[in-house]
Amino acid sequence: MRRIRAVVYGAGSMGSIATRLMTDKGIEIVGAIARNPSKVGRDLGEFAGLGHRLNVPIEADAAHVLATSRPDVVLHATRSFLPEIQEQLALCVRNGANVVTLSEESLYPWYTSPIIAAELHTLAKQHGVTITGGGHQDAFWLGMVSTLMGAAHRIDSVYGKCTCNADDYGADIIQDNHVGETLEQFQKSISSESRPPTFGRNLLGVLAQASGLRPKEWKSEVSPVVADDDRPSQSIGVTFPKGTVVGFSDIDVLHTFEGITFTFEMSGYVYGSGESDVNKWVVRGEPDLYLDNTPVHGRTTTCTQWVNRIPDVINAPAGFVTLDQLPPLRYRPGPFHNYVSVGTLA
Ligand SMILES: NC(=O)c1ccc[n+]([C@@H]2O[C@H](COP(=O)([O-])OP(=O)(O)OC[C@H]3O[C@@H](n4cnc5c(N)ncnc54)[C@H](OP(=O)(O)O)[C@@H]3O)[C@@H](O)[C@H]2O)c1
Repeated sequence: MRRIRAVVYGAGSMGSIATRLMTDKGIEIVGAIARNPSKVGRDLGEFAGLGHRLNVPIEADAAHVLATSRPDVVLHATRSFLPEIQEQLALCVRNGANVVTLSEESLYPWYTSPIIAAELHTLAKQHGVTITGGGHQDAFWLGMVSTLMGAAHRIDSVYGKCTCNADDYGADIIQDNHVGETLEQFQKSISSESRPPTFGRNLLGVLAQASGLRPKEWKSEVSPVVADDDRPSQSIGVTFPKGTVVGFSDIDVLHTFEGITFTFEMSGYVYGSGESDVNKWVVRGEPDLYLDNTPVHGRTTTCTQWVNRIPDVINAPAGFVTLDQLPPLRYRPGPFHNYVSVGTLA
Protein backbone atom coordinates (compact mmCIF):
# COMPACT_ATOMS: atom_id res chain seq x y z
CA MET A 1 0.00 0.00 0.00
CA ARG A 2 1.31 3.48 -0.80
CA ARG A 3 1.74 6.27 1.77
CA ILE A 4 -1.02 8.78 2.58
CA ARG A 5 -0.57 12.03 0.61
CA ALA A 6 -1.37 15.21 2.57
CA VAL A 7 -1.48 18.96 1.94
CA VAL A 8 -1.02 21.53 4.72
CA TYR A 9 -3.60 24.28 4.04
CA GLY A 10 -2.46 27.11 6.32
CA ALA A 11 1.27 26.94 6.91
CA GLY A 12 1.08 28.66 10.29
CA SER A 13 1.69 27.76 13.95
CA MET A 14 -0.45 24.60 13.91
CA GLY A 15 0.52 23.60 10.37
CA SER A 16 4.22 23.70 11.36
CA ILE A 17 3.75 21.34 14.31
CA ALA A 18 1.56 19.00 12.24
CA THR A 19 4.23 18.85 9.54
CA ARG A 20 6.67 17.15 11.92
CA LEU A 21 4.01 14.85 13.37
CA MET A 22 2.89 13.73 9.90
CA THR A 23 6.40 13.01 8.68
CA ASP A 24 7.02 10.96 11.87
CA LYS A 25 3.91 8.89 11.05
CA GLY A 26 4.97 8.10 7.49
CA ILE A 27 2.68 10.58 5.72
CA GLU A 28 3.96 12.05 2.48
CA ILE A 29 3.39 15.82 2.45
CA VAL A 30 2.77 16.86 -1.15
CA GLY A 31 1.79 20.52 -0.84
CA ALA A 32 1.58 23.55 1.45
CA ILE A 33 -0.49 26.72 1.25
CA ALA A 34 -0.13 30.18 2.83
CA ARG A 35 -0.47 33.78 1.61
CA ASN A 36 2.21 35.89 3.23
CA PRO A 37 5.00 36.74 0.76
CA SER A 38 7.55 36.07 3.53
CA LYS A 39 6.42 32.41 3.53
CA VAL A 40 5.58 31.78 -0.12
CA GLY A 41 8.45 30.01 -1.93
CA ARG A 42 10.05 28.67 1.25
CA ASP A 43 10.44 24.93 1.75
CA LEU A 44 7.87 23.57 4.24
CA GLY A 45 10.45 21.39 6.03
CA GLU A 46 12.69 24.37 6.69
CA PHE A 47 9.75 26.64 7.57
CA ALA A 48 8.46 24.08 10.08
CA GLY A 49 11.90 23.79 11.71
CA LEU A 50 12.51 20.14 10.75
CA GLY A 51 16.14 20.94 10.04
CA HIS A 52 15.88 19.48 6.56
CA ARG A 53 14.03 20.15 3.34
CA LEU A 54 10.86 18.30 2.36
CA ASN A 55 11.08 19.65 -1.20
CA VAL A 56 7.57 21.02 -0.72
CA PRO A 57 7.37 24.74 -1.53
CA ILE A 58 4.80 26.86 0.30
CA GLU A 59 2.52 28.27 -2.38
CA ALA A 60 -0.21 30.91 -2.45
CA ASP A 61 -2.35 29.41 -5.21
CA ALA A 62 -4.46 26.85 -3.36
CA ALA A 63 -6.32 25.74 -6.50
CA HIS A 64 -3.04 24.96 -8.25
CA VAL A 65 -1.59 23.09 -5.25
CA LEU A 66 -4.66 20.92 -4.81
CA ALA A 67 -5.13 20.18 -8.50
CA THR A 68 -1.50 19.21 -9.09
CA SER A 69 -0.68 17.36 -5.86
CA ARG A 70 -3.94 15.33 -5.60
CA PRO A 71 -3.78 14.71 -1.82
CA ASP A 72 -5.78 12.04 0.00
CA VAL A 73 -6.27 14.46 2.87
CA VAL A 74 -5.91 18.17 3.58
CA LEU A 75 -4.88 19.32 7.06
CA HIS A 76 -6.71 22.64 7.11
CA ALA A 77 -6.02 25.42 9.64
CA THR A 78 -6.65 28.94 8.41
CA ARG A 79 -9.69 30.47 10.14
CA SER A 80 -12.32 29.44 12.68
CA PHE A 81 -15.76 30.02 11.16
CA LEU A 82 -17.48 28.33 8.24
CA PRO A 83 -18.48 31.50 6.32
CA GLU A 84 -14.75 32.37 6.16
CA ILE A 85 -13.61 28.94 5.00
CA GLN A 86 -16.49 27.49 3.02
CA GLU A 87 -14.77 28.14 -0.31
CA GLN A 88 -11.46 26.69 0.96
CA LEU A 89 -13.15 23.48 2.11
CA ALA A 90 -15.17 23.27 -1.12
CA LEU A 91 -11.97 23.60 -3.16
CA CYS A 92 -10.39 20.68 -1.30
CA VAL A 93 -13.51 18.56 -1.79
CA ARG A 94 -13.78 19.37 -5.50
CA ASN A 95 -10.21 18.15 -5.84
CA GLY A 96 -11.16 14.81 -4.29
CA ALA A 97 -9.48 15.39 -0.91
CA ASN A 98 -10.75 14.49 2.54
CA VAL A 99 -10.36 17.36 5.02
CA VAL A 100 -9.57 17.51 8.73
CA THR A 101 -9.98 21.13 9.75
CA LEU A 102 -9.11 22.91 13.00
CA SER A 103 -11.94 25.36 12.37
CA GLU A 104 -13.64 25.40 15.76
CA GLU A 105 -17.09 25.87 14.25
CA SER A 106 -16.61 22.70 12.19
CA LEU A 107 -16.60 20.65 15.40
CA TYR A 108 -20.41 20.70 15.18
CA PRO A 109 -21.73 23.36 12.80
CA TRP A 110 -25.34 22.17 12.63
CA TYR A 111 -26.73 24.81 15.03
CA THR A 112 -24.51 27.78 14.11
CA SER A 113 -24.08 27.50 10.28
CA PRO A 114 -26.56 24.81 9.24
CA ILE A 115 -26.96 25.98 5.65
CA ILE A 116 -23.22 26.07 4.90
CA ALA A 117 -22.73 22.75 6.69
CA ALA A 118 -25.51 21.18 4.60
CA GLU A 119 -24.03 22.56 1.36
CA LEU A 120 -20.61 21.16 2.25
CA HIS A 121 -22.16 17.86 3.32
CA THR A 122 -23.86 17.49 -0.07
CA LEU A 123 -20.72 18.48 -1.97
CA ALA A 124 -18.55 16.05 0.04
CA LYS A 125 -21.01 13.22 -0.63
CA GLN A 126 -20.99 14.01 -4.34
CA HIS A 127 -17.19 13.77 -4.37
CA GLY A 128 -16.99 10.74 -2.06
CA VAL A 129 -14.88 12.47 0.60
CA THR A 130 -15.21 13.46 4.27
CA ILE A 131 -14.92 16.80 6.07
CA THR A 132 -14.34 16.65 9.84
CA GLY A 133 -13.58 19.39 12.37
CA GLY A 134 -11.20 18.34 15.13
CA GLY A 135 -8.23 19.37 17.24
CA HIS A 136 -7.94 19.86 20.98
CA GLN A 137 -11.68 19.39 21.52
CA ASP A 138 -11.57 15.78 20.33
CA ALA A 139 -10.40 13.93 23.47
CA PHE A 140 -10.39 16.72 26.05
CA TRP A 141 -13.81 18.30 25.55
CA LEU A 142 -15.75 15.53 23.82
CA GLY A 143 -14.27 12.03 24.08
CA MET A 144 -13.28 12.00 27.77
CA VAL A 145 -16.34 13.97 28.85
CA SER A 146 -18.75 11.69 26.94
CA THR A 147 -17.06 8.68 28.51
CA LEU A 148 -17.30 10.26 31.98
CA MET A 149 -21.01 10.90 31.39
CA GLY A 150 -21.33 7.24 30.37
CA ALA A 151 -20.23 6.26 33.88
CA ALA A 152 -23.28 7.95 35.47
CA HIS A 153 -26.67 6.42 36.27
CA ARG A 154 -28.39 9.84 36.31
CA ILE A 155 -27.08 13.25 35.22
CA ASP A 156 -28.44 16.61 36.40
CA SER A 157 -25.73 18.89 35.04
CA VAL A 158 -22.36 18.93 33.30
CA TYR A 159 -19.89 21.76 33.91
CA GLY A 160 -16.62 22.33 32.05
CA LYS A 161 -13.94 24.98 32.61
CA CYS A 162 -11.16 25.30 30.06
CA THR A 163 -8.51 27.87 29.29
CA CYS A 164 -6.12 28.34 26.40
CA ASN A 165 -3.24 30.74 25.91
CA ALA A 166 -4.03 33.01 22.96
CA ASP A 167 -0.28 33.55 22.68
CA ASP A 168 0.31 29.89 21.72
CA TYR A 169 -1.28 30.36 18.31
CA GLY A 170 -0.99 32.66 15.30
CA ALA A 171 -1.35 36.46 15.13
CA ASP A 172 -4.95 36.20 13.88
CA ILE A 173 -5.89 34.43 17.10
CA ILE A 174 -4.47 37.34 19.12
CA GLN A 175 -6.78 39.61 17.16
CA ASP A 176 -9.78 37.25 17.37
CA ASN A 177 -9.39 37.23 21.17
CA HIS A 178 -9.59 41.06 21.32
CA VAL A 179 -6.09 41.17 22.80
CA GLY A 180 -4.80 44.72 23.16
CA GLU A 181 -8.24 46.38 23.13
CA THR A 182 -9.40 48.88 25.71
CA LEU A 183 -12.51 47.94 27.69
CA GLU A 184 -14.53 50.39 25.59
CA GLN A 185 -13.28 48.83 22.33
CA PHE A 186 -14.04 45.36 23.70
CA GLN A 187 -17.62 46.28 24.65
CA LYS A 188 -18.16 47.75 21.19
CA SER A 189 -16.74 44.65 19.42
CA ILE A 190 -18.79 42.16 21.38
CA SER A 191 -22.03 44.09 21.04
CA SER A 192 -21.65 44.09 17.26
CA GLU A 193 -24.31 42.06 15.47
CA SER A 194 -21.60 40.44 13.36
CA ARG A 195 -20.01 38.78 16.42
CA PRO A 196 -19.47 35.12 15.46
CA PRO A 197 -20.94 32.26 17.50
CA THR A 198 -19.07 31.07 20.57
CA PHE A 199 -16.95 27.91 20.31
CA GLY A 200 -18.91 26.64 23.32
CA ARG A 201 -22.04 26.46 21.22
CA ASN A 202 -20.37 23.98 18.86
CA LEU A 203 -18.92 22.01 21.75
CA LEU A 204 -22.16 21.73 23.71
CA GLY A 205 -23.97 20.83 20.49
CA VAL A 206 -21.70 17.86 19.85
CA LEU A 207 -21.60 16.81 23.53
CA ALA A 208 -25.40 16.68 23.63
CA GLN A 209 -25.53 14.87 20.29
CA ALA A 210 -23.02 12.25 21.48
CA SER A 211 -25.45 11.28 24.27
CA GLY A 212 -28.60 11.61 22.17
CA LEU A 213 -29.79 14.68 24.14
CA ARG A 214 -31.98 17.33 22.53
CA PRO A 215 -31.16 21.05 22.90
CA LYS A 216 -34.02 23.14 24.30
CA GLU A 217 -32.53 26.54 25.19
CA TRP A 218 -29.12 28.21 24.76
CA LYS A 219 -27.58 31.17 26.60
CA SER A 220 -24.18 32.82 26.17
CA GLU A 221 -22.37 35.44 28.23
CA VAL A 222 -19.06 37.07 27.44
CA SER A 223 -16.68 39.00 29.68
CA PRO A 224 -13.21 40.49 29.13
CA VAL A 225 -10.01 39.21 30.73
CA VAL A 226 -8.03 42.28 31.81
CA ALA A 227 -4.28 42.11 32.47
CA ASP A 228 -3.38 42.66 36.11
CA ASP A 229 0.26 43.18 35.14
CA ASP A 230 2.23 44.09 32.00
CA ARG A 231 1.65 41.09 29.72
CA PRO A 232 4.23 40.19 27.03
CA SER A 233 3.06 38.35 23.91
CA GLN A 234 5.71 36.13 22.32
CA SER A 235 3.71 35.52 19.15
CA ILE A 236 3.56 39.16 18.10
CA GLY A 237 6.46 40.58 20.14
CA VAL A 238 4.43 43.23 22.01
CA THR A 239 3.91 43.84 25.75
CA PHE A 240 0.34 44.80 26.66
CA PRO A 241 0.21 47.19 29.61
CA LYS A 242 -1.64 46.41 32.83
CA GLY A 243 -5.35 47.26 32.41
CA THR A 244 -5.49 46.16 28.74
CA VAL A 245 -7.90 43.49 27.56
CA VAL A 246 -5.80 40.35 26.94
CA GLY A 247 -8.61 37.99 25.95
CA PHE A 248 -12.10 36.99 26.99
CA SER A 249 -14.26 34.33 28.61
CA ASP A 250 -17.44 32.87 27.18
CA ILE A 251 -19.94 31.04 29.34
CA ASP A 252 -22.37 28.94 27.33
CA VAL A 253 -25.36 27.24 28.92
CA LEU A 254 -27.47 24.59 27.20
CA HIS A 255 -30.70 23.27 28.72
CA THR A 256 -31.88 20.02 27.17
CA PHE A 257 -35.37 18.55 26.88
CA GLU A 258 -34.10 15.65 28.99
CA GLY A 259 -33.54 18.06 31.92
CA ILE A 260 -29.73 18.05 31.83
CA THR A 261 -28.00 21.44 31.89
CA PHE A 262 -24.57 21.87 30.31
CA THR A 263 -22.38 24.84 31.24
CA PHE A 264 -19.06 25.47 29.50
CA GLU A 265 -16.70 28.25 30.56
CA MET A 266 -13.99 28.85 27.98
CA SER A 267 -11.32 31.51 28.44
CA GLY A 268 -8.76 32.41 25.79
CA TYR A 269 -6.24 35.08 26.75
CA VAL A 270 -2.53 35.87 26.91
CA TYR A 271 -1.36 34.13 30.07
CA GLY A 272 0.58 35.72 32.89
CA SER A 273 3.65 33.98 34.26
CA GLY A 274 3.06 30.51 35.73
CA GLU A 275 -0.36 29.97 34.09
CA SER A 276 -1.10 26.82 32.09
CA ASP A 277 -4.02 25.33 30.18
CA VAL A 278 -6.90 24.15 32.35
CA ASN A 279 -9.35 21.34 31.52
CA LYS A 280 -11.76 20.51 34.35
CA TRP A 281 -15.18 18.88 34.19
CA VAL A 282 -17.80 18.02 36.81
CA VAL A 283 -20.80 15.77 36.16
CA ARG A 284 -23.48 16.14 38.88
CA GLY A 285 -25.91 13.27 39.37
CA GLU A 286 -25.67 9.73 40.61
CA PRO A 287 -22.82 9.64 41.36
CA ASP A 288 -20.95 12.97 41.00
CA LEU A 289 -17.98 12.49 38.64
CA TYR A 290 -14.86 14.58 38.11
CA LEU A 291 -12.20 15.01 35.42
CA ASP A 292 -9.14 17.24 35.66
CA ASN A 293 -6.27 17.10 33.15
CA THR A 294 -4.65 20.35 34.24
CA PRO A 295 -2.07 21.27 33.01
CA VAL A 296 -2.83 20.31 29.41
CA HIS A 297 -0.40 21.16 26.62
CA GLY A 298 -3.17 22.44 24.35
CA ARG A 299 -0.91 23.63 21.55
CA THR A 300 0.59 20.15 21.17
CA THR A 301 -2.59 18.17 21.84
CA THR A 302 -4.39 20.19 19.17
CA CYS A 303 -1.94 18.94 16.57
CA THR A 304 -1.51 15.37 17.83
CA GLN A 305 -5.27 14.80 17.67
CA TRP A 306 -5.58 16.63 14.34
CA VAL A 307 -2.97 14.33 12.80
CA ASN A 308 -4.09 11.16 14.63
CA ARG A 309 -7.55 11.53 13.10
CA ILE A 310 -6.24 11.26 9.53
CA PRO A 311 -6.86 7.48 9.09
CA ASP A 312 -10.32 7.74 10.68
CA VAL A 313 -11.34 10.59 8.39
CA ILE A 314 -10.07 8.80 5.28
CA ASN A 315 -11.99 5.69 6.37
CA ALA A 316 -15.21 7.58 7.26
CA PRO A 317 -18.30 7.71 5.06
CA ALA A 318 -18.56 10.69 2.71
CA GLY A 319 -20.10 13.93 3.94
CA PHE A 320 -19.63 16.45 6.76
CA VAL A 321 -18.93 13.90 9.49
CA THR A 322 -18.56 15.20 13.04
CA LEU A 323 -16.32 13.61 15.69
CA ASP A 324 -19.23 11.95 17.50
CA GLN A 325 -19.66 9.81 14.37
CA LEU A 326 -16.03 8.65 14.27
CA PRO A 327 -14.53 5.80 16.31
CA PRO A 328 -12.92 6.75 19.65
CA LEU A 329 -9.54 8.44 19.25
CA ARG A 330 -6.77 5.82 19.51
CA TYR A 331 -2.98 5.90 19.66
CA ARG A 332 -1.38 4.42 16.56
CA PRO A 333 2.39 4.08 16.33
CA GLY A 334 2.34 4.36 12.53
CA PRO A 335 2.96 4.39 9.67
CA PHE A 336 -0.55 5.69 9.21
CA HIS A 337 -1.29 4.10 5.82
CA ASN A 338 -1.45 0.77 7.71
CA TYR A 339 -4.69 1.95 9.37
CA VAL A 340 -6.51 2.95 6.19
CA SER A 341 -9.15 0.57 4.79
CA VAL A 342 -7.79 -1.82 2.20
CA GLY A 343 -8.14 -0.49 -1.35
CA THR A 344 -8.54 3.19 -0.37
CA LEU A 345 -4.97 4.16 -1.26
CA ALA A 346 -4.68 2.05 -4.39
N1 LIG B 1 -9.56 23.18 17.01
C1 LIG B 1 -8.51 23.47 17.73
O1 LIG B 1 -8.17 22.77 18.68
C2 LIG B 1 -7.66 24.65 17.39
C3 LIG B 1 -6.47 24.91 18.09
C4 LIG B 1 -5.63 25.92 17.64
C5 LIG B 1 -6.00 26.72 16.57
N2 LIG B 1 -7.20 26.49 15.97
C6 LIG B 1 -7.61 27.30 14.81
O2 LIG B 1 -6.77 26.96 13.71
C7 LIG B 1 -6.60 28.10 12.88
C8 LIG B 1 -5.11 28.33 12.63
O3 LIG B 1 -4.42 28.55 13.85
P1 LIG B 1 -2.85 28.89 13.85
O4 LIG B 1 -2.47 29.14 15.27
O5 LIG B 1 -2.11 27.88 13.06
O6 LIG B 1 -2.89 30.27 13.05
P2 LIG B 1 -1.73 30.95 12.19
O7 LIG B 1 -0.40 30.70 12.74
O8 LIG B 1 -2.18 32.36 11.96
O9 LIG B 1 -1.82 30.16 10.80
C9 LIG B 1 -2.90 30.31 9.92
C10 LIG B 1 -2.40 30.00 8.53
O10 LIG B 1 -3.50 30.08 7.65
C11 LIG B 1 -3.11 30.85 6.51
N3 LIG B 1 -4.28 31.50 5.97
C12 LIG B 1 -5.17 32.28 6.63
N4 LIG B 1 -6.13 32.68 5.78
C13 LIG B 1 -5.83 32.13 4.57
C14 LIG B 1 -6.42 32.19 3.30
N5 LIG B 1 -7.53 32.88 3.10
N6 LIG B 1 -5.82 31.52 2.27
C15 LIG B 1 -4.69 30.83 2.48
N7 LIG B 1 -4.08 30.73 3.67
C16 LIG B 1 -4.64 31.39 4.70
C17 LIG B 1 -2.11 31.84 7.05
O11 LIG B 1 -1.30 32.28 5.98
P3 LIG B 1 -0.38 33.59 6.09
O12 LIG B 1 0.42 33.46 7.35
O13 LIG B 1 0.45 33.47 4.89
O14 LIG B 1 -1.33 34.75 6.13
C18 LIG B 1 -1.34 30.94 8.02
O15 LIG B 1 -0.39 30.20 7.30
C19 LIG B 1 -7.33 29.24 13.60
O16 LIG B 1 -8.62 29.40 13.07
C20 LIG B 1 -7.41 28.77 15.03
O17 LIG B 1 -8.50 29.37 15.74
C21 LIG B 1 -8.03 25.49 16.35
